[in-house]
Amino acid sequence: MISIRDINSSKIEKGLVSVQGWVRTHRQSKSVSFIELNDGSGVKGLQLVIEPTLESYAKVAVSISTGAAIKASGELVDSPAKGQKFEMKVTEITLVGQADPETYPLQKKGHSLEFLREILHLRPRSNTIGALWRVRSRAAMAVHKFYQERDFFYLHTPIVTTSDCEGAGEMFRVSTLDPRSPPLLENGQIDFSQDFFKEQAHLTVSGQLEAEIGAMALSKVYTFGPTFRAENSNTTRHLSEFWMIEPEVAFNELPENMQLAWDFVKYVVEDVIKQCGEELEFLHAREWCEKGLSEALHKLVTSNYAVLDYTEAVKILETSGKKFEFPVSWGIDLQTEHERFLTDEYIKGPVFVVNYPKQIKAFYMKLNEDEKTVRAMDLLVPRLGEIIGGSQREERHDVLLNRIKELGLPQAPYWWYLELRKFGTTPHAGFGLGFERLLMYITGMQNIRDVTPFPRFPGYAKF
Ligand code: 4AD
Ligand code: MG
Repeated sequence: MISIRDINSSKIEKGLVSVQGWVRTHRQSKSVSFIELNDGSGVKGLQLVIEPTLESYAKVAVSISTGAAIKASGELVDSPAKGQKFEMKVTEITLVGQADPETYPLQKKGHSLEFLREILHLRPRSNTIGALWRVRSRAAMAVHKFYQERDFFYLHTPIVTTSDCEGAGEMFRVSTLDPRSPPLLENGQIDFSQDFFKEQAHLTVSGQLEAEIGAMALSKVYTFGPTFRAENSNTTRHLSEFWMIEPEVAFNELPENMQLAWDFVKYVVEDVIKQCGEELEFLHAREWCEKGLSEALHKLVTSNYAVLDYTEAVKILETSGKKFEFPVSWGIDLQTEHERFLTDEYIKGPVFVVNYPKQIKAFYMKLNEDEKTVRAMDLLVPRLGEIIGGSQREERHDVLLNRIKELGLPQAPYWWYLELRKFGTTPHAGFGLGFERLLMYITGMQNIRDVTPFPRFPGYAKF
């Protein structure tokens, strides 16, 4: 059996072949019938041309409706129809699985993305979601290729953890205690020593702290796995479960970290353009996709990165003459509207913002000499804002300990993290790329729930 993508990309010679897949449309007439077949290997399907007198067809014709699974054999011939090289003159056709036309929800007419979100089990059979699933798979491989080609080691960091990487407390609890009657301490608090892990455990928000252990031994590591945030963010850019890629490199400082991030983003974009041309062409032509995205991606692949110091960015925003909903002043966390001004209007492309005030960033970031800012870097892209958050890490034991205390974080869970600063500490740096955000950027999708096969967000964990 061969894939329809191979047929359409001319990897197959004309001649006898067999195909299988799902029916997109079935048009019958007295003289000839047409079936458009798609097996999920590409956007384009294969047109099957059938003489109604064909015996195997006559038997099953009434049951071949949109969504049915069929197999067909026949001869590939040049197609007179526009937009396809070959069509198949069918000599044998079998019905594998019927799809009840009364209740099958996908029909030829396009469906809204909102509607497709209600049928996660069938939506990958739509052109848009099918294309997104394929892009996602290719992009994931590009991530591994990039790091493997550069001799990074892929490190599996734990999903269940007892430390809070971001120190923000936005974690899902993992427990086998009976929620109706948990064992209590004398002070009324839950006695987690009787829980499964004998202490409070959570789903990880980031593999960074463990990746730092890796970098302090193997020099260059990366993680690529699911991460979880129990934040009540019901936006088009937030998920409760998302995939993050986190490289961590010993001896790297902020400039090397930025270069790595930029090379990485460019590599994945370029690889997806190469591997998924058909998908991108289709997705970039959707009505919701911004104009010029394709050109912007091509331009990115050959361009250098732009950098703004946070302090400079704030000045630009303050003097922009723009009325922002959230007023700008030094010390604020940049809001989406600020980020968008910087990328969409000021730089007109992606930009790293670096050296943020320490009070709006995590405890592990290296304190600058001014003692007010930290060596943080966020990569902002047009339309979306932040797709990467990273930093040089604080490698000085006492400074790190001070930061933990200053922020009122408990010291005990970070004992091993602090110890790394006692035994052969080195400067090091890393970042986290939100995989779904990158996919949104590349595909032009406006809602993160569409680039994620099974999205999880507040109030929703179905399928
Ligand atoms: O900026 P964040 O929170 O950084 C970290 O977690 C660091 N530990 C990374 C590191 O330095 N190793 O998250 C990193 C990226 C964001 O820039 C964003 O792209 C994505 O992860 N992200 C989310 N994506 C979808 N839904 C959410 N709720 C996200 N939160 C963060
Ligand atoms: Mg961030």
